[in-house]
Amino acid sequence: MTGLPVAIVGWGLAVPEGRITNADLEARVDTSDEWIVERTGIRERRIAGPGETTATLATTAGASAIKRAGLTPDDIDLLIVATASPEQPLPHTGAFVGDALGLRCGSFDLAAACAGFVYELVVGASMVGIGYRNILLIGAETLTRITDPDDRGTVILFGDGAGAAVITRTTGDAPALLAWDLGCDGSAAGILEIPAGGSRLPTSEATLADGGHFLKMQGKEVFRRAVRAIVDSTAATLERAGITADDVAWFVPHQANVRIIDSAAERIGIPPERTLVNIARYGNTSSASIPLALFEAVDDGRVRDGDLVLLSGFGAGMTWASALVRWGIR
Ligand code: ACO
Repeated sequence: MTGLPVAIVGWGLAVPEGRITNADLEARVDTSDEWIVERTGIRERRIAGPGETTATLATTAGASAIKRAGLTPDDIDLLIVATASPEQPLPHTGAFVGDALGLRCGSFDLAAACAGFVYELVVGASMVGIGYRNILLIGAETLTRITDPDDRGTVILFGDGAGAAVITRTTGDAPALLAWDLGCDGSAAGILEIPAGGSRLPTSEATLADGGHFLKMQGKEVFRRAVRAIVDSTAATLERAGITADDVAWFVPHQANVRIIDSAAERIGIPPERTLVNIARYGNTSSASIPLALFEAVDDGRVRDGDLVLLSGFGAGMTWASALVRWGIR
């Protein structure tokens, strides 16, 4: 299970203009800037404004990625949208995004929470393997719309944004996706969930009154499992690629909590100067967080052609996913 001949040939980002600072939150819930910065590393997050939704952010990021790839919407033959905060329960978010972008291809959503972007990278690459040419991958979220504004345990963490990539079959022999690891431990499904609004607990006046439509999280337990998942999953990925952490130029973890990132990076053996961290400015944007961190660093020149980049995400499910990518393969 190693080496898929795909390259990331275009990328794009979208974040709302609106910001919520820690000072804004201090005014709303019983918290403090000092606590949030020390316990999470977050200073502000972006919030979608009126008229902005998961699909509009996804569309902006997707349009940039197509343009950056030097392609047009007609060139895209598959769209995958990873999201934990879909446009509507039905139809899938990709339907809205594909329409807004003027795509004429198939689309589906992928539900793997904060591991969603890495999951869709692996799924998309395998679809290239069966003949698709150019696939648009998007991780997009408006988590502020599914977070309880009165719950200090979650409202401090989550933000909105989107990241997109176009992957295509490489012309050369070198694979860009070198190794990967996908996992899920459903026995932990209850530690991070939106309990109501599905077939198990349909929306009712009682679920609305209980706030069952908001995200609920057992933060400590998620934290404990997250570090283990990242460490084990990246180890499996590096082993499959036949390399060690010393060979990795950049580690791009899901941006959930700076303490999770520091603890996982230390155990993997990657120093802070080779770990991409932008959580202070965006908080946890779930499926958008890894592309936001990676593509910002590509745009500002930190990530260079030839670099080995190790991506690793974890989230509700509990899912996890890691991938080792050689940047700059065309
Ligand atoms: N402000 C001030 N105090 C707070 C806050 C807050 N916002 N939240 C909790 N506290 C208090 C608690 O009540 C507790 O007080 P007590 O000791 O008097 O009982 C104390 O701070 C410590 O609380 P903990 O929950 O133990 O705090 P912890 O250090 O674990 O940090 C946090 C909480 C930030 C949520 C952390 O557990 C975390 O980041 N967990 C992981 C979350 C995550 O990674 N989610 C990713 C997946 S998201 C997805 O898939 C969509």
